[in-house]
Amino acid sequence: MKILAISGSLRKKSFNTALLRAAQISAPAGMDVDLFETLGEFPLYNQDVADAAFPDLVSKTKERIRTADGILFSTPEYNRGISGVLKNMIDWCSRPSGDGAWGEKPYGIMSASGGRLSAMRANYELKLTMLQMGGYVMGTPEFFLGNGKDVFDENMALADEKTKELLAKYLAAFKTYAERFSQKA
Ligand code: FNR
Repeated sequence: MKILAISGSLRKKSFNTALLRAAQISAPAGMDVDLFETLGEFPLYNQDVADAAFPDLVSKTKERIRTADGILFSTPEYNRGISGVLKNMIDWCSRPSGDGAWGEKPYGIMSASGGRLSAMRANYELKLTMLQMGGYVMGTPEFFLGNGKDVFDENMALADEKTKELLAKYLAAFKTYAERFSQKA
């Protein structure tokens, strides 16, 4: 099973990106987690640009989304919502109208923050967005990571054993969930 992992942060020491890197290590057998690393190269969405010359990067990304068996997001929370860069990428990949790449695909949605609230509100906002796209969004279990500085080490590797255990459980549940929708299942 091929899962595309998308972090909503461009920060080098992002807790969300670090969480997805940890997911690459903790994924159950049979689940390959491919990290999306070109979020920062997306232009700002402009319908004039989209209509005149649809960017190659966006077309390639849409293909990666389409060929993935599922999508695993980890989002930060910016002013009680998802980050602008993540929303921009989601919007691009939903276009042109009628030919979006999202939907009819399983979604695992995690969130992480440096504070104790774990970006929970952004997590729910993203769930609603992906439901609206026609996605199959896993409701439970949920995965929220707070107090990022306490669970990652100085190299941004996940160091907290309890969090590692919860992440492995979450990923195993997501694999089972995604298998229900996979054409290969
Ligand atoms: C934040 N942050 C934040 N945190 C939170 O829990 N609720 C919030 O509403 C906000 N709002 C917010 C706005 C803006 C503009 C920034 C830059 C930051 C803090 C943010 O969640 C924190 O920096 C995370 O660590 C960012 O995620 P990464 O980069 O570590 O993945």
